[in-house]
Amino acid sequence: MVKSDRDELWEINAKWWQEGFSDGADPEYEEQIIPMALARLRGAKRVLDVGTGEGQLARLAVQAGAELVVGIDPTWAQVTVAAQKAGGPAYIQSEAAALPFPDASFDAVLACLVFEHIEAVDAAIAEVARVLEPGGRFVFFLNHPLLQTPGSGWIDDHIIDEQYWRIGPYLTESNEIEEVEKNVFIPFVHRPMSRYVNAMAAHGLLVTEMAEPTPPAGFLAKAAEYRDASTIPRLLLLHATKFAGIMGGGPAHDAVEGPADVVVGAPANAVVGGPRA
Ligand SMILES: C[S@@+](CC[C@H](N)C(=O)[O-])C[C@H]1O[C@@H](n2cnc3c(N)ncnc32)[C@H](O)[C@@H]1O
Repeated sequence: MVKSDRDELWEINAKWWQEGFSDGADPEYEEQIIPMALARLRGAKRVLDVGTGEGQLARLAVQAGAELVVGIDPTWAQVTVAAQKAGGPAYIQSEAAALPFPDASFDAVLACLVFEHIEAVDAAIAEVARVLEPGGRFVFFLNHPLLQTPGSGWIDDHIIDEQYWRIGPYLTESNEIEEVEKNVFIPFVHRPMSRYVNAMAAHGLLVTEMAEPTPPAGFLAKAAEYRDASTIPRLLLLHATKFAGIMGGGPAHDAVEGPADVVVGAPANAVVGGPRA
């Protein structure tokens, strides 16, 4: 599959996400992800939601008291729906690896279940660090990179009469297209956990908390085999603080003169960007 086809998959399948995982549709969001995210964003005033999707977490950040919330996402089919739903955030069609904001624009950056879809991980982490002010926080959710590798899952081994959780190839970085539901294809990048943590460290993002919660009751109740997996976390949270001193994280990026000022002053349902050709 060529790269442009890969990029198109989120455009084609945005509705799968919007209908299945937002606005109360998904117990993992309702019972776990949303409360965890809001607790870590408490007190933040300027929040960037990277890979905002249809904006569910961005809207909640506004309700929780943030004064400025901006959601970015390269998928036009996501940011336009986010803008229609309004609720306070501004949206820009943008890639995580090239954020259109000056340095130190935000005191919190959120990325929820996004980086496993991003190929340019180093550039994207560098951008998160750049747009965070010193002392700012990065609230970073991933599908657990160790336990949710491609090929992982519950195995019922009738030969040795044992049940166990299989971990797929963990150390191998891989780029896959997964059929997440019949005829719904989504691009995923698998990489080991150290890849994320080391990229963050290189850019002064110091992990202050790591959480691997038990899947919530509403998820476990969905199917009998899910109950068996209750000791296997699906989610990983890395909560990091942008180091305020000097670190050897590579040259500082120049401020990007972008549409940030336009967006800050724009009505809530404005979107900067346009459909991909
Ligand atoms: C699983 S959804 C999560 C949406 C949202 N964060 C949430 O929690 O509801 C992943 C999102 O990542 C976006 N995405 C994919 N590649 C991206 C990139 N290079 N930069 C930023 N976002 C990206 C997709 O368009 C999609 O909206």
